[in-house]
Amino acid sequence: MAALLNLLRKPDWYRTTVFYEVPVRSFFDSNGDGIGDLPGVTSKLDYLKELGVGALWLLPIYPSPWRDEGYDISNHYAVHPLLGTLEDFDRLVARAHDRGIRVIGDLVTNHVSMDHPWFQQARASRASPYRPWFLWSDTGKEFSRARVIFKDFEKSNWTWDETAGQFYFHRFYETQPDLNYDHPEVRAEMLKVVRFWLGRGLDGFRCDAVPYLIKREGTNCQSLPEVHRFFQEVRAVMDAEFPGTALVAEANQTIAETVQYFGASNEFQMVMHFPLMPNLYLALAEGSPQRIRHVLQSTLPVPRECAWAYFLRNHDELTLEQVSEDERARFRGFYGRDPRAIVNGSIRRRLAALLGGDDPSILMMTAVILGLPGSAFLYYGDEIGMGDRLVLPDRDGVRTPMQWEDGPTAGFSTAPPERLVRPIVTDPGFAPAARSVAVEEAQPGSLLRRMRSLLRVYNENTAVLSSYRFLPVDLGESPVLAFWRPGPGEQILCLYNFATGPASGTLTLPEAVDPTPIEVLAGEPSCEALGSEVRFHLGRREFSWSRFPAQIVSLGSVAPSAGAGR
Ligand code: GLC
Ligand code: CA
Repeated sequence: MAALLNLLRKPDWYRTTVFYEVPVRSFFDSNGDGIGDLPGVTSKLDYLKELGVGALWLLPIYPSPWRDEGYDISNHYAVHPLLGTLEDFDRLVARAHDRGIRVIGDLVTNHVSMDHPWFQQARASRASPYRPWFLWSDTGKEFSRARVIFKDFEKSNWTWDETAGQFYFHRFYETQPDLNYDHPEVRAEMLKVVRFWLGRGLDGFRCDAVPYLIKREGTNCQSLPEVHRFFQEVRAVMDAEFPGTALVAEANQTIAETVQYFGASNEFQMVMHFPLMPNLYLALAEGSPQRIRHVLQSTLPVPRECAWAYFLRNHDELTLEQVSEDERARFRGFYGRDPRAIVNGSIRRRLAALLGGDDPSILMMTAVILGLPGSAFLYYGDEIGMGDRLVLPDRDGVRTPMQWEDGPTAGFSTAPPERLVRPIVTDPGFAPAARSVAVEEAQPGSLLRRMRSLLRVYNENTAVLSSYRFLPVDLGESPVLAFWRPGPGEQILCLYNFATGPASGTLTLPEAVDPTPIEVLAGEPSCEALGSEVRFHLGRREFSWSRFPAQIVSLGSVAPSAGAGR
C-alpha cells in the first residue's frame, strides 16, 4: 500500500527510473508449454525488485501470428492466448504496483498484422469501410523517397495484393500493412486502444516506429508535422484522463529530428536516445569519450518534465542507420567482424557478446547511462551477461530464453528443451553454467551481484540524479569521461575510464564545494581532495560516483562488500 501511494505521488517518476525490457515469450514459462507468459513474469517480480528495477516495458502481448515478435498485432484489445488472459495481465500490473514497480506496454501504431480483421475486410472489397484504413496504389510507385527499413528482407514498401487488386504500403515486413493516419477513424481507434490499456492500469507506453505514421509525396515520409500532432493528441488524452502516465518514443532519427519528439513538453515525456547509443560503443573501442561529450552537448538539457531514455541494447539489431559511412565501417571492424552478426546493415548481438563477456566493461557502460540525466532502459538478461545465438534468423538470436539456472532449459521452462520458444545459448562462457541468475547469485563478485549494487546506489541517489542540471568536466585528451550532476544541496561527480589501462589526473570541480569525498561502498578510493582540486585514479574500465561535499556514494568497479549482492 505504501509503495502504491508512493507511485501515485510522483508524476515525473519516469525521470529517475530503471526500466527493464521484458520479452514475455522469452522470460519465464509458468505452465510448461515452452513459451514464456504473463504469470511467468508475475512470478519473477521479486527478482526484478531486488535487482532495483522501477518499471517494466512489456513487449507486445497482443494476439498476433508472431511473424514479427508480436509487432504484427491482430487484435489490440486482448492478450495472446499463449501468453495468458486479460486477468493475468491485471494481476501482473497489480502485483507490480504492490512492489512499487510500474508497467508500460508497447503501442504499435504504424501498422497491423495482415491477419487483422481490419485488413482482411479492407482487402476483400473496395467498398469496405476499412478500405481507407490502409494505403493502396495501382502502381506501387508512390512515396518512392521512403527508404526500405528491413532492407535484407524487403525490396519495396509496396506489395501487390491479389485479393485487393492493388498494392498496399508497408514500412516494415510485407505481412505488416501500414495504417492510414490521414483517416480520422484510424486516429480515433488508436486513442481507444490507448484508453483501453491505461484504463486497465498500464503506466504508459513505449511507442513503436513513431516517425513513419504519415506519408507525403516528395518527402522521406519521416517525422512529418502531422506525426507530432497525432502524438500530442495522445498525450493530451493521457494527461487529462490518466495523469501520471508516460509516453516513450522509439524514433531512430537524426539528432535534430529526435529532439523534436519532446515537443514543448507536450508530446513524449521520454525519447529513446538513439543518437548516443552507437557512440557509447565506439568510444569504448577507441578508448576516448570525446564523441560522447559531443553528442551530449547537442542533446542536453531537455525540456521540463522530459527525459532521455538511454539504452545499450534492445530486442532489435544494434542500429547503425544514423551513423556516418565511416563510423559504420569502424563499428563493424570493432564489433561486427563475424558476418553473421550483420542484419539490415546493423549488428544483431547482445551487450555481453559485443563486449567480449568483459564484466567491468558491461558495468561501466551501464553506469554511464545511469549517471546521465534521464532514465536507463536495461535489456533482459544483460544484467547476467547473457550471450546470443547467431545461428537463429533475423533478430531471434538476441531473444533467447532468460537463463535462470544451469541446466538444459536454463530453468526457463519445464518443457523439454526442443519445445522451447527458442533454443538456449550454448556458447562456452555464455551458457547457463556460466551465465544464469542462480549461478551468479552464488558467486561473490559476479556481474549480477555488482549490477544489483550499482542499481542500489543509483536508486539511493535519485534526489541528485533527477536534477536537470548537467555540467561536463573538460579533461582535454584524457580517456576519462567526467561530468558533474548538481542536485539540490548535494552534487555527484561521475568519472569513467575508457582507456584499456589505468588513468589518473586532476580536475577542478565546476562549482565551489568542499572537495572532500568520503567512501561509503567497499572498494579502493578513486578520488581525493588536493587543495581546491580533486585528484583521481581509475584502473582499467573503472568508474566512480563521488558525492560532494560530504561523501563518495559509489566506487570504482562497484566491488561487492560482504553480502553486498543481496
Ligand atoms: C520497431 C520494433 C521492431 C519491429 C518494428 C516493426 O522497430 O522495435 O522490433 O520489428 O518496429 O514493428
Ligand atoms: Ca507458457
